[in-house]
Amino acid sequence: MATRRADVASALRGASGRALSGEALARDLGISRTAVAKHVASLRSLGYAIEAAPGVGYWLVSAPDACIPEEVWPRLGDLLWVECTGGPQTRSTNDDAKRLAQAGAGEGTIVIAGRQSGGRGRFGRTWASPEGGVYASVVLRPPLAPSELAPVALVVAVGVARGLAGLGCEVGLKWPNDVLLGGRKLAGILVETAAEVDCVEWVVAGIGVNVAGAAYADGACVRDAVPEAAIADVAAAVLDAVAGAYRVFCSGGFAAVREEYLALGTLWGRQVLVHDSLGRRVADGVAQGVDDAGALLISGDSGTLAVMAGEVTLADTHEPLTER
Ligand code: BTN
Repeated sequence: MATRRADVASALRGASGRALSGEALARDLGISRTAVAKHVASLRSLGYAIEAAPGVGYWLVSAPDACIPEEVWPRLGDLLWVECTGGPQTRSTNDDAKRLAQAGAGEGTIVIAGRQSGGRGRFGRTWASPEGGVYASVVLRPPLAPSELAPVALVVAVGVARGLAGLGCEVGLKWPNDVLLGGRKLAGILVETAAEVDCVEWVVAGIGVNVAGAAYADGACVRDAVPEAAIADVAAAVLDAVAGAYRVFCSGGFAAVREEYLALGTLWGRQVLVHDSLGRRVADGVAQGVDDAGALLISGDSGTLAVMAGEVTLADTHEPLTER
């Protein structure tokens, strides 16, 4: 990530509370002292507590707990990630990432935000995105045919679950890609793509995670399980784990991720209904698992059906969705 503001934040963080003179900062970053002062003011507006004294310089007292590039980028470790842009607020990180992808942004470009004013969910729904969550969208350019894209959302869900488990938050998955804690929705994934007839141009995978509080009354948040979880730690853990799962998928296909997906699944053995995006019922029966293409396997009166897309509800909605 290459903004000068982020460089100033990084230099102050690296000084571990010691003062850095405006002159030294300006020299090291190749900018003017006026520019340093401007970036310090901008960082303060993001919630950084930065003290200053004449003849001494600037020192960092505390950084905000927020899903902003200045906090998330230094925590990321996976080499898939090449760029992290964004800020405290945007309309939708998926819209921003799609714009960047269309303009040629490379695989591994991340857009994040502290909140969204127009967050979007699956089936054209709204994704409530107040401060206190992780809102991230990543540009991927998988070497796949368009017909092989369906499992990408499941792979991202496995990554999100892995990243959260690494922080002590054990979640379950509801096919295709809802992330649940104690049967309540904790995170959602929205995958959007552009493809030609025989080749994928780009995939944007958007991830929303409730961290400090649930955006909906029936939702869950990471702090229900890990009260001290920091928002930027959640963002980085999830993004790095998504990169790991994606790499396995690119080299081995969904078959290489399937066992992990099955272990995280919460529907197996349950009586379910599946509806398509227009609300039409496409299947009902007992969910058995997923196949190597990521399709949901449902056994019913007429045998086993492989469903590629849709929305699942439990036939008995009074039962909890999962024991996790
Ligand atoms: C769903 O479960 O319906 C999917 C929700 C996806 C929400 C994320 S938040 C980051 C990215 N930007 C968006 O507008 N949506 C996705």
